[in-house]
Amino acid sequence: MSRKRPGGPAKGPGGARLAHVRVKTARGRKLSSTRWLERQLNDPYVAEARRLGYRSRAAFKLLQIDARYRLLKPGLAIVDLGCAPGGWLQIARAAAGGNARIAGIDLLPVDPVADALLLQADFMAEDAPAALVAALGVSPDLVLSDMAPELTGHARTDHWRVAALAEAAAQFACATLTPGGAFAAKVFSGGAGPDLLRLLKRDFARVSHFKPDASRKESAEIYVIAQGFRGRQTGEGPENATEGDG
Ligand SMILES: C[S@@+](CC[C@H](N)C(=O)[O-])C[C@H]1O[C@@H](n2cnc3c(N)ncnc32)[C@H](O)[C@@H]1O
Repeated sequence: MSRKRPGGPAKGPGGARLAHVRVKTARGRKLSSTRWLERQLNDPYVAEARRLGYRSRAAFKLLQIDARYRLLKPGLAIVDLGCAPGGWLQIARAAAGGNARIAGIDLLPVDPVADALLLQADFMAEDAPAALVAALGVSPDLVLSDMAPELTGHARTDHWRVAALAEAAAQFACATLTPGGAFAAKVFSGGAGPDLLRLLKRDFARVSHFKPDASRKESAEIYVIAQGFRGRQTGEGPENATEGDG
C-alpha cells in the first residue's frame, strides 16, 4: 500500500484534508476487490463513520436528508425499511430521542439499537407490513426506506429491482402513515418513476428529490422525499399495503 495524492487531497465531511491511499493489486485479490478496498480507504465518510461509531457511512445520508428536510423530530414513530447494519437506526434514535418508537426490517440480522424493534424478514413478504405495524404498536409518522437489492451490474435489472422496493415502501407508507407524516426512500436513475411519483403527489403535499453529499457521485442513487401526508384513502390498510407492487 502506498500513499499519494492524485489530483490533490480529498476533503473529509468536516472539511479536513485527507491523503489518498493507493492499494496495489495483491495475488489472489480480484481487481474489483482491490478497487473496493481503495475506495473504502479513501472514503472520508467511511473514516468519519468509524470515528463516530456509526455502523455505516449511510448514516451521513440520513443526517444530510434530515438537515435539509427536518424529518426526524422527538417522539416520532418511525419505520426503517432495509435497516442493516443500522446506521439510519442510530441517527433516528439519536434525533428522535428515547421516547420515539422505532421499528426496522431487513433480510440481514441487525445488532440491537436501543429499544428499536427489529425484524429479520423480507419486506416484500405478504405478512411483513402488518408485522411491522404490530411491532411499532402505533401508526408510523415517518417511513424511511434505504432498501437496495444486491446489485447485478445490469443497469436495467438493478433499476427495476430498486424501483419495485421503493414502490412497495411507498404503498406501505400510504397505507399506514398518520396524517401529516413523511416518507423518504432510495430510488435510482433520475428519481421516482411515473407510477411512484403519481402515488406520492396524490397523497403528499410536497414531493422532492435529493442527492445527499454522502451519496457517491458515481452511484445512480437518489432519494425521494414526500412530506405532508394527506391521510389514508378509503380501503387502504397495512394488510394490503403491498398490493399492486411487482
Ligand atoms: C444500503 S443498505 C441499508 C443501510 C442502512 N440504511 C444503514 O444505515 O445501515 C440496504 C439494505 O436493504 C436490505 N434489503 C434489500 N431488500 C430487502 C427486502 N426485500 N426486505 C428487507 N430488507 C431488504 C439489504 O439487506 C440491505 O441491508
